[in-house]
Amino acid sequence: MDDLKFNKVAAGFLLAALLAMAGYKLSEVLVPHQKLAQNAYPIEVQVASTTTAAPAAAKGPEPILALLASADVEAGIKTAKKCTACHVFDKGGKNKVGPGLWNIVNADKAAVDGFSYSAALTEMEGGWDYQALNAFLYKPKAYVAGTKMNFAGLKKPEDRANLIAYLRSQADAPIALPSDADIAAETSAQAQ
Ligand code: HEC
Repeated sequence: MDDLKFNKVAAGFLLAALLAMAGYKLSEVLVPHQKLAQNAYPIEVQVASTTTAAPAAAKGPEPILALLASADVEAGIKTAKKCTACHVFDKGGKNKVGPGLWNIVNADKAAVDGFSYSAALTEMEGGWDYQALNAFLYKPKAYVAGTKMNFAGLKKPEDRANLIAYLRSQADAPIALPSDADIAAETSAQAQ
């Protein structure tokens, strides 16, 4: 295509675009947008003044202690398959991508020998009691912002309870299951 022809075609496109814009503007002048003063079809909405809004549903993790009392260790072993790419649960198990998890329930956080933890987990206080494990396994990155554990979490409370029951069993002297008083305390804390 020679230059002149190209210019003609280009001019054609430009003109078309200009016309389209002009047409649009013109239509706005002829039929201006209007805000209706009120709904064309008023709808009666009953506003109940006495009821207060329901509290927003509590975001997980759901309480765990009551579920732990009836947890199924065998089912926990199955759920633990989601962890075995990175963790060993047996006594003397080596650190892999994640630390060995023998005797992890009630252990200090970030305390397995020879494992290089994230700064985030290292700086975290406290031990892995049932509730800490529940919160961590629900959503690791929410509980420990900056953790190296690349795992989305276990959304079902039963899965977490079964798994924690299995973790508990992987110890020389498993710690006590939650008492009725522990369960009651957790339930009332959750209700507030
Ligand atoms: C993709 C690898 C990966 C998977 C899958 C994984 N983890 Fe981890 N886990 C890690 C890493 C890495 C760390 C160290 C985290 C850090 O340093 O922030 C960790 C840390 C932990 C800790 C803290 C240990 C300590 O000594 O403080 C626990 C408990 C844990 N994982 C449990 C689990 C369980 C239970 C599962 C399965 C539901 C699981 N993890 C799945 C990689 C993984």
